[in-house]
Amino acid sequence: MKGLILAGGKGTRLQPVTYVVNKHMVPILNRPMILYPLETLKHLGATDIMVISGGGHIGGIAEFLGDGSEYGVQLTYRVQKSAGGIAQALGLAKDFVGVDSVAVVLGDNIFENAKLPKPPKNAGKDEAFLYFARPKDPSRFGVPVLKGSNGRVVKIEEKPKRPKSPYAVTGLYIYPSNVFNVVANLKPSARGELEITDVNNWYIKKGRCGHAVFKGFWSDAGTRESLKQVIDWAYKA
Ligand code: G1P
Repeated sequence: MKGLILAGGKGTRLQPVTYVVNKHMVPILNRPMILYPLETLKHLGATDIMVISGGGHIGGIAEFLGDGSEYGVQLTYRVQKSAGGIAQALGLAKDFVGVDSVAVVLGDNIFENAKLPKPPKNAGKDEAFLYFARPKDPSRFGVPVLKGSNGRVVKIEEKPKRPKSPYAVTGLYIYPSNVFNVVANLKPSARGELEITDVNNWYIKKGRCGHAVFKGFWSDAGTRESLKQVIDWAYKA
């Protein structure tokens, strides 16, 4: 399984520090944010990793992580020229992933890796696999809609005003290599981006999307409030 860290975006919500520092290099105490998703991929067994970031400040990431050997991984970098969404960034990894499966993690998603369950065997073979969490405010995230007594996932709604479940889809996704065909057929959303939620909904519709509910600490770190939450957790951990 290959690994992919998506570290694009302008980090608008963390300005002004993100005028001069890539969002994913913002420190969680003494460690740049990006080390956390990197360790998440390592924990899942993916050590051949591509880092994709926008043009701005990507140099800082490469300067810090280098070839990855210091962290026990092998790194490749790619620039996402325009901010076309998470799924567009994923599409840039097509040749890197080839016929393998891929674990994709958003560069601002912080997981308590020790508690992260390994994906089942068929994840990335013929199925996608997602991790759900129970955040304070699901409406900031992709929210799964569940049906029936066994809680079957029928779809994911992106940032719904009224969340239909208490769960959020975290920014950690496992896909088979056919994900690149799915991405190639996506239409831009109302905000003009290729949405990762549309990719996930494709697998759900086909009945080929598994998930686990993650019970450990999880947060994004892209806003002042969530960054503080992550720093508080890291200080105690
Ligand atoms: C993205 C996804 C959303 C997911 C979230 C996790 O949102 O679109 O479905 O729940 O990451 O952090 P963003 O943070 O890019 O707005």
